[in-house]
Amino acid sequence: MKEVTLIATCTFGLEAIVKREILKLGFDNLKVSDGKVEFLAQVSDIAKVNLWLRCAERVLLKLSEFEVLSFEDLYQGIKSIRWEDFILKNDKFPVNANSVKSKIYSLSDIQKITKRAIVDRLCDVFKIDWFEEISSSVYSIEVSILKNIATVTVDTSGEALHKRGYRKRALNAPIKETLAAAMISLSFWDNTRVFYDPFCGSGTFCLEAYMIARNIAPGIMRHFAFENWNLLKSDVLEDEKKKARFLIDYDKDLKILGSDIDRKSILVARDNADILGVEDEISFFIKDVRDVDLENNYGVVVTNPPYGERLGERVEVENLYRDFGKKFRDLDTWSIYLITSMKDFEKFYGKKADRRRKLFNGGIETQFYQFYGPKPK
Ligand SMILES: C[S@@+](CC[C@H](N)C(=O)[O-])C[C@H]1O[C@@H](n2cnc3c(N)ncnc32)[C@H](O)[C@@H]1O
Repeated sequence: MKEVTLIATCTFGLEAIVKREILKLGFDNLKVSDGKVEFLAQVSDIAKVNLWLRCAERVLLKLSEFEVLSFEDLYQGIKSIRWEDFILKNDKFPVNANSVKSKIYSLSDIQKITKRAIVDRLCDVFKIDWFEEISSSVYSIEVSILKNIATVTVDTSGEALHKRGYRKRALNAPIKETLAAAMISLSFWDNTRVFYDPFCGSGTFCLEAYMIARNIAPGIMRHFAFENWNLLKSDVLEDEKKKARFLIDYDKDLKILGSDIDRKSILVARDNADILGVEDEISFFIKDVRDVDLENNYGVVVTNPPYGERLGERVEVENLYRDFGKKFRDLDTWSIYLITSMKDFEKFYGKKADRRRKLFNGGIETQFYQFYGPKPK
């Protein structure tokens, strides 16, 4: 198996950004659908793509796509896949299923039949009748049936890609690293401007901004499911990581600031920066947003304030947005980018956004408000 089809999955609303990332990595002929970008690659690219995608959740290896009108169709379709090309005798291969608008929809039956078809094929090939599933190689298989078309994939990532490895502790509704990176990418911030998150919590936006500016591969600190597979040579990921280390740009001047009213959050943000090894390069400080004093110096704010979703918080958060608006809306050289689920945010902030975009934050429907400032002269 040399050329393969990969599917990068992402949060709804981020498909165009993930597409842009994949194009930048050198792939073309991309197929975009809800929450997915599909493309052709070489087997060894599995390492590069997992290492570099900032805004995707997982990279799946697509094995087959076929029509299923009955369980027999499913069994035959699954059994015809050359599982022996990658699964070895002792490997684990859990099966997950989902079905939408299709003739067969019992998820437990889809799972059972898929598993049986794989086991039957591998028993024939390996001449054994029992699988211990004890090795550290895990092939998480998913059968996804949509309008009677089954797509069979294996997850190459393991833990979801938002888990970069630097966030050991988190408090208070942290934003996913992948969504934070996407919002920064939509802000077009670069190191010529100050970056500031005045509701920084555990520091996710500042840490992601840092990694983007220094061109640090988001997966550089972590491991992936495919590392234990026999499909890729064992040194492919290490080689990609070596190349990635060489590409880190330590020369740029950066000014990245994060503040929060909560002392514990600032301590966690500093710990996270420490894990990433950048504690001296990002300034995290305790401050109520009402006391922030900013110069008009072409900065970019990307932030995730409290949403006021919990009972009794709404009025408090409306007042917070009012005060935040008084401080920030008239800073005419700054660009402000903010995500919240509060529908009438602009009313409290006191200004209409130049652009809004629907995004999902951990299943909550939110709007990403974009207030554009001028570019530095
Ligand atoms: C949704 S959380 C931000 C989470 C953060 N993006 C992360 O990834 O960890 C909102 C943050 O706003 C902070 N906050 C609430 N009121 C504030 C105020 N008046 N000034 C500054 N920060 C405030 C909270 O302490 C909390 O950390």
